[in-house]
Amino acid sequence: MDILHSVAEMHRFADRVHHSGRTIGFVPTMGFLHEGHVSLMHIARQHADVLVVSIFVNPTQFGPGEDFESYPRDFERDRRMVAAAGADCLYYPDANEMYPDGYQTMVCVRDVTRNLCGLSRPTHFEGVATVVTKLFNAVKPQCAVFGQKDFQQLVVIKRMVKDLNMDIDIIGAPIVREPDGIAMSSRNKYLGPAERQAARCLSRALDAVRARVQAGEHAAQALISLATDIISAEPLGRIDYIRVCDVETLRDVELLENDAVMAVAVFFEKARLIDNAVLHVNGQQS
Ligand code: PAJ
Repeated sequence: MDILHSVAEMHRFADRVHHSGRTIGFVPTMGFLHEGHVSLMHIARQHADVLVVSIFVNPTQFGPGEDFESYPRDFERDRRMVAAAGADCLYYPDANEMYPDGYQTMVCVRDVTRNLCGLSRPTHFEGVATVVTKLFNAVKPQCAVFGQKDFQQLVVIKRMVKDLNMDIDIIGAPIVREPDGIAMSSRNKYLGPAERQAARCLSRALDAVRARVQAGEHAAQALISLATDIISAEPLGRIDYIRVCDVETLRDVELLENDAVMAVAVFFEKARLIDNAVLHVNGQQS
């Protein structure tokens, strides 16, 4: 597996792959990898000849007072996991390579970034859209895989790729969970034992909401109340938001008519966790 640090090296690698008639599948990450990340790598492998994974803790997507400095990092362990997943290249640029002196261009996706995480993290998605654009320009992939765990991020990237005519297939991958239901996340590391136990309330609430939809409830407010009751019963958590939105526009819906997503964000002492469930009006919930 090649480990590349500069845009120039990455371009040479990508051009070599393309000249030999092969395609590149790409998985961008911020490292501290877990099985959720690895599942994206397996999916990318199935869609392309060559797998490129990036690790870059992107400063522009962290707001003031957020966890950029303390974000967990373990390059050696990550390198082994990326190699074991069968990647051909690990792109590991440093901050100077991504944002050199004089850097001043940002990518802004408008409406779909306003709701949900955009409410409490107003500059987050500008940072995400910018770094993903830069990574796409360095890696030149034919397809890229993003997890549905970060549902809004996936919607933002799909919108950006469409709006900017990027010729890249964006593939959404299912949420990988721990055996007790908690969505895997690099930030789960911040949770103490009692909080780790308490954090199960997110997936428990989403399970209850899925069951209620399956039983015929279509009113968003009733579903939000159900989830609120379950999560607020957990004293260690503080709800940031619980909303039901259209899966494409991410605008709040009052009634489930088309597929909708219930998205939740909950603060614990040192971590803010997110999770979601796609709610289908007819058929199985996912
Ligand atoms: P990071 O949080 O490292 O996540 C990298 C990718 O892994 C994202 O597409 C995310 O949705 C996916 N992922 C995380 N946990 C998952 C889980 N439990 N199941 C399935 N997929 C999961 O998201 C980012 O990094 C950054 O914002 C990035 C896109 C790299 C831009 O900096």
